[in-house]
Amino acid sequence: MEDNREKFYSIVTLGCQMNEHDSEILAGMLEKMGYAENKGKNDKDIDIAIINTCSVRENADKRFFGMLGQLKKSKENNTNMVVAVCGCMMQQQHIVDTVKSKYPWVDLVFGTHNIHEFPKLLTNILSERKKIIDVWEDGCEIIEGLPSKRLYPFKALVDVMTGCNNFCTYCIVPYTRGREKSRNMEEILKEVRNLAADGVKEVMLLGQNVNSYQGTTIDDSGNHIKTDFADLIYKINDIEGIERIRFMTSHPKDLSDKLIQAYGDCDKLCNHIHLPVQSGSGNILKRMNRKYTKDDYLLLVKKLKKTVPEIAITTDIIVGFPGETEEDFNETLDLVGKVRYDSAFTFLYSIRKGTPAESFKDQVPEHVKHDRFNRLVDLLNGITLEKNKAYEGKLEKVLVEGSSKTNNKTFTGRTESSKIVNFQGNKDMVGKIINVRVKEGKTFSLFGEIE
Ligand code: 5AD
Ligand code: SF4
Repeated sequence: MEDNREKFYSIVTLGCQMNEHDSEILAGMLEKMGYAENKGKNDKDIDIAIINTCSVRENADKRFFGMLGQLKKSKENNTNMVVAVCGCMMQQQHIVDTVKSKYPWVDLVFGTHNIHEFPKLLTNILSERKKIIDVWEDGCEIIEGLPSKRLYPFKALVDVMTGCNNFCTYCIVPYTRGREKSRNMEEILKEVRNLAADGVKEVMLLGQNVNSYQGTTIDDSGNHIKTDFADLIYKINDIEGIERIRFMTSHPKDLSDKLIQAYGDCDKLCNHIHLPVQSGSGNILKRMNRKYTKDDYLLLVKKLKKTVPEIAITTDIIVGFPGETEEDFNETLDLVGKVRYDSAFTFLYSIRKGTPAESFKDQVPEHVKHDRFNRLVDLLNGITLEKNKAYEGKLEKVLVEGSSKTNNKTFTGRTESSKIVNFQGNKDMVGKIINVRVKEGKTFSLFGEIE
């Protein structure tokens, strides 16, 4: 007898926007298979629970194993539920071994390179009710045309390239996401045109290092020509309906003058750049294999500010990388004071198995790391507050994202520079770009009034 009962899925996503986008694809595939998202339902109604994992730092690993432990209880109450785990952690053999030995109730393990196979894997599990572990070491070409269920109707994540060839010595990503692969430019443009036709106003172009995007296109005479990331921005800037272009992440060593110029030329390219610096010390940058110096980085910032004086700059900083001395750390504080970041993600260095820095002998003691971390955050927060206060009185264009969870009259959105603005509004504004006069700049957001 056919089972006509509605089927539900839940997906928990850990980690970066690449993972978020992979989860959107998993949701898209599940909805095509007839599943609906489990919104606040009891665990016993879930037919498939997926955890999409991140391995960039140790606390992401810990969170994953904690969640998996909790799923055991859900599975005991709902034995038919399929438990699937995927994403970056599964690309590491020692993690798969742990899942196999300590969490035997997991039904399906797959990796970052075979997401497109997920419907087939799920169908096999359901028909044969056996465990499947299928992790590919590296991917073939990028698979086009996968469905995707967007979190917001008016903004979308768009992959432009995957993988990373940089091998920063602290980082696990080159091992979990494989080598760099760029999508064909025409495929990206087709996707963005379709998104625009579907009402999307803002696109976030995604890649571990978008600046090394290498595509091809066909010129007016029918010849295949090479294109780069800046060319892609110029082309997307011409797509009607798209009003904002953002990208994430760009490596300072590959940030070209051509891309900086695109900020000057392309009106839709938002005046914000996320430019991870990681450290201000030349010694540490060298040991991290970042391939730029503090001065190289400061020169880029100077060029960016010259082209777009109002540009907001955000960054990632790692504190306590092996061998970091007080002098090295002071170089980081000095750089932060010179760049004056709009905001920053700060991380305590976390040893990742299999990376070169794992075997560096001079690991920094935890208490030293924490002390430096707190000093850095104090400096950054002070600068962020000053920068946000400088917005007071300015009229900003804000893309409205939704209402606050605690107050349905307070709405929230983002400025072009990606700052969060809260204001009194109504639900008709969601998805629209409206003018908001900033009344107050706080450390983590702005408060404004509609004009
Ligand atoms: N320890 C701490 N932070 C890390 N990051 C990447 N690997 C590590 C690690 N082993 C940070 C970097 C990167 C961000 C996504 O995560 O700052 O830019
Ligand atoms: Fe990791 Fe460096 Fe690649 Fe970024 S550029 S993903 S930090 S290896």
